[in-house]
Amino acid sequence: MSTPENFSSGRLQIALGLQDVVVDESKICFIDGVAPKLLYYGYNIHDLAENCSYEEIVYLLLNGKLPNKAELAKISTDLVAARGLPAEVFETIKHAPKSSIPMDVLRTCVSQLALSDPKPNDDTPEGRYRKSIRLTALFPEIVAADYRNRRGEAPNKPNPKLGHASNFLFLLHGKEPGPSAAKTMDVALVLHAEHSFNASTFTARVIAATLSDMYSAVTGAIGALKGPLHGGANEGVIKTLVEIGDVSKVEPWLNEKFKEKGFRLMGFGHRVYKTLDPRAVVLKKYSEKSGKEHGVTKWFDMSVKIEAMMKTREKPLYPNVDFYSASTYYTMGLPPEIFTPIFAVSRVAGWCAHVMEQQSHNRLIRPDCAYIGVMDAPFIPLDKR
Ligand code: CMC
Repeated sequence: MSTPENFSSGRLQIALGLQDVVVDESKICFIDGVAPKLLYYGYNIHDLAENCSYEEIVYLLLNGKLPNKAELAKISTDLVAARGLPAEVFETIKHAPKSSIPMDVLRTCVSQLALSDPKPNDDTPEGRYRKSIRLTALFPEIVAADYRNRRGEAPNKPNPKLGHASNFLFLLHGKEPGPSAAKTMDVALVLHAEHSFNASTFTARVIAATLSDMYSAVTGAIGALKGPLHGGANEGVIKTLVEIGDVSKVEPWLNEKFKEKGFRLMGFGHRVYKTLDPRAVVLKKYSEKSGKEHGVTKWFDMSVKIEAMMKTREKPLYPNVDFYSASTYYTMGLPPEIFTPIFAVSRVAGWCAHVMEQQSHNRLIRPDCAYIGVMDAPFIPLDKR
């Protein structure tokens, strides 16, 4: 029983933030935060990032194995076939106030997708797989249509000749991306696709564990991803870089900030990684490359300087996935307000994989709390209060 006595006596322990609490088994993702190492279904993220398309990763996450050529062709065709936003979702985007937050528009539209699905509650393995493909296919369209709508531009129709990453850039800009931009986006999508029981994935699993549907689980996950301590950090990173403004100002700016009580530098620190996030290693390379290609190296240079300073603090902190993705996207000409939606465009596949895994051996997720409120309060009738 969660009475104060049971906690003060040590019979029960509070795990604030669920740190180090193991709630289930999973085959999807392994993280060693010290080595450091990140595996999707056993495969090292560095091998996957350099050698696989996002479509291969979607197949891997939804099926537990890398696809052969025929399987890859099939899932690629399925993803293309599932494209095409329902008209009412375009209407929602069109009528969203210009002041609305892109993650709020994405969350609303994803929830709305359930209404155009003839079987939103189909919880057969085939039904869950179909919904995973549909959601994965439609995220880029929602994000791109909202991006264009804010600029007064009509949405672009998906290009069936283009793969997931290239098509996303095509939807945003209305022209086919060059090979370098396409590769950078593909790598970013691969790197963000999955990360074990992080906050948004756990949210999806909690919802799935009530035997609610895939749309509800993914909608809830978007809400969790939005927060600045999670996926929202990438937008915070670029705000910081812009505020600092120049590599020469990094040192005085940071020194001043660290005098502020409770200051948090976005893109640094992690619950699991106690050293450099392996995804940041790859993104650092792409940030440098993108900066050179676009003739704007200052964001990368500032980032490197910040990383070096953070390492030498009394309590060192290291970049997480959000740190170098920010300068990578920014130099590609993407605005900060869609950085977190891009994260969601990728992570949807991981969320869907976890919903399927949760429901394959389900038990309701229902933790407890240490009650610290009043006990047995004498009831006072309304007219006496
Ligand atoms: N800037 C300054 N200090 C920090 C930071 C940071 N970014 N991160 C951790 N610390 C300090 C924190 O103040 C605390 O210090 P002390 O022990 O002296 O009180 C200590 O490190 C431990 O921090 P914590 O908040 O207890 O650690 P946590 O595991 O609860 O939080 C985190 C992890 C990611 C929320 C945190 O590191 C953070 O706020 N980072 C900035 C936001 C961010 O980049 N989020 C993206 C996370 S990775 C990608 C994703 O999931 O989306």
